[in-house]
Amino acid sequence: MSKKIFSGVQPTGNLHLGNYLGAIKNFVSLNNNKENKCIFCVVDLHAITVKQDPDELKKNIRETVATFIASGIDPKKSIIFKQSRVAAHAEAAWILGCVARMGWLNRMTQFKEKAGKDKEKASIGLYSYPVLMAADILLYDATHVPVGDDQKQHLELCRDIAQKFNNDFEVENFLQVPEPLIQKEFSRIMSLKDGSKKMSKSELSDLSRINLTDTKDEIINKIKKAKTDTLSMPKNLNEIEERLEVKNLLGIYASLSDTTLEKSIENFAGKNFSEFKEKLSQILINKIVPISSEIKKLLSDQKYLDQILLDGVEKADLIASKKIERIKEIVGF
Ligand code: AMP
Ligand code: TRP
Repeated sequence: MSKKIFSGVQPTGNLHLGNYLGAIKNFVSLNNNKENKCIFCVVDLHAITVKQDPDELKKNIRETVATFIASGIDPKKSIIFKQSRVAAHAEAAWILGCVARMGWLNRMTQFKEKAGKDKEKASIGLYSYPVLMAADILLYDATHVPVGDDQKQHLELCRDIAQKFNNDFEVENFLQVPEPLIQKEFSRIMSLKDGSKKMSKSELSDLSRINLTDTKDEIINKIKKAKTDTLSMPKNLNEIEERLEVKNLLGIYASLSDTTLEKSIENFAGKNFSEFKEKLSQILINKIVPISSEIKKLLSDQKYLDQILLDGVEKADLIASKKIERIKEIVGF
């Protein structure tokens, strides 16, 4: 079945292995299926829900585009564009914000995590962020949305908003209720320093993540320093349940070698950690270093990257402006 794919990535720097394994790797395989229509958005409006340095933001937008392409997304097959250039996103977000309920947004765990203890000081944008995400998806009638596990709740909210809009305005099936595409395994890659926290761009220590721009030596060093424990390598699934860091590293190994966690445990049972870490570094180097070199190469050609965004925005705007016009008519504007 042909799918309409939409997904977004925030241009907030430090794209990492979690972004790759949780989302971008999936984007690439969806892009490679000729039947699919794919749209990948650099969500700069989402990025400013927390303070950004304008020059850094500009740089990170290009870096996100470069990462998409270096990872294998073909801009001739997929639309790649910048969210802020299509006015319909902000317009639809306002209208859908009048459909969504406070009670629904109050349940969003990502807001609670990002806002921290002092919620009064969080931006209003950070709070209504999932409504903008719903607007992104619904403007393009996306049928499937590939994301990491942390976005599952936001997608459920998007589905609720679509259904409520369709019900409230008696327009059955007008807004397409999208399906999440979340990998069954390894949909949440954890920090190399603390197996209970997800690998994140904003974590202070760079040793907590493998960046997609890391060099061979940086990867070796980070895996060497990655937290493990004093026990020997596990022999079966039961033995890793409580050993979060070991489970995460074995999961990364499995995901990169396209095998199961069970198989990768079997592979290293009874061996020592240093041998496992060496093999893990090797497989990471094979995957990440070509991407990292390609990102650096692409970044030296800003004109090319800017042109991709220009081509993309033209196509995206065509689709989104039609949808927002219909939305406005339905609402009574
Ligand atoms: P963001 O960088 O927050 O815009 O996320 C871009 C994509 O990467 C989203 O689909 C996230 O769900 C996914 N993602 C971010 N961090 C992780 C992680 N640690 N593990 C798996 N997926 C992730
Ligand atoms: N909220 C997503 C994240 O932080 C990014 C995003 C914005 C997105 N709009 C989207 C993802 C639409 C999928 C579809 O990862």
